[in-house]
Amino acid sequence: MKIDKITVIGAGNVGATVANVVAHKDLAKEVVLVDIKKGVAEGKALDIWQSASILDFNSRVVGVTDDYLRTKGSGVIVITSGLPRKPGMSRDDLIKTNASIVKEVTEKAVKYSPDAIIIIVSNPLDVMTYAAYLASNKPSHKVFGMAGILDTARYRAFIAEALDISPKGVHALLLGGHGDTMVPLPKHTSVSGIPLIELLGKDQIDAIVERTKKGGGELVSLMGTSAWYAPGAAAAQMVEAIVRDQKRIFPCCTLLNGEYGLKDVYLGVPVILGKNGIEKIIQMDLDTEEKKHLNVSAKAVKDVMKVLDDMKLF
Ligand code: NAI
Ligand code: 2OP
Repeated sequence: MKIDKITVIGAGNVGATVANVVAHKDLAKEVVLVDIKKGVAEGKALDIWQSASILDFNSRVVGVTDDYLRTKGSGVIVITSGLPRKPGMSRDDLIKTNASIVKEVTEKAVKYSPDAIIIIVSNPLDVMTYAAYLASNKPSHKVFGMAGILDTARYRAFIAEALDISPKGVHALLLGGHGDTMVPLPKHTSVSGIPLIELLGKDQIDAIVERTKKGGGELVSLMGTSAWYAPGAAAAQMVEAIVRDQKRIFPCCTLLNGEYGLKDVYLGVPVILGKNGIEKIIQMDLDTEEKKHLNVSAKAVKDVMKVLDDMKLF
């Protein structure tokens, strides 16, 4: 299955990677990459397109500078525009710059693709997803964010390393906001059906949980900017689930309306992803400790949502 057009806004590290992986997966006839810096999207799109005959895909990849007419009729739009973290910064420090950028690009993109499903990647993720929701005037099942797949992938990679096995067999889930309060769920983690708690000791699991929570920061310290290969692949996996109507269950950042006892907050929870976007929010049975951690995470996100509200952009 293939759709006519997918747009990726922001042709930086993450956006270019999303466009590259989406093109490899042949999910659309055309992939449009947009940036505000002249030549960047054009150049990266041309480079990706020139790999088509080598990597055997057909999606035509084009880049444009701030030209939203070219994005007209997109079925899915991925928003990655905005500043990344630098060492010493938290994701939340980005709100002042990124909120205006996300608002502006969402409004421009929705004007030309009113039916599109929108996936947000820009940080601080949960609050930028809320900003895009407000700017888009669309129902929340069509505006959601990518973080849980990435955070879970990091968690799965660390478990695979500890057990010296393939990460493919590690089944796991992580809830909450995309920040240090995220909630990995060891009790709900298994390796080819074997509960993780039977395979690793408590200290090892605790160390993995802590490393996962700070997984983004670990990469920022190493590279001086934030990650892109895994984030780009994670966003592309969401695009694929939508385009191919896969009905996959992924942790995604979505607006809660009473689920998990939480309301009016964008937060990561498991959802079914298909052609209509978020088709269902899955309610898990959490124990008291897990619920407590989720509430702490929701409170952290709400505090940043308040900063956005106080900016009076909407
Ligand atoms: P980057 O700096 O490499 O790319 C950002 C791009 O956005 C730049 O090319 C810039 O010119 C462009 N841009 C800025 N304003 C624009 C506008 N008004 N219209 C169009 N393009 C505009 O940054 P990178 O590494 O690609 O990260 C992008 C965002 O994604 C950051 O906010 C980062 O924190 C976030 N991120 C989120 C993750 C997640 O799990 N949700 C994971 C990794 C990064
Ligand atoms: C990450 O987790 C910084 O959100 C970015 O890599």
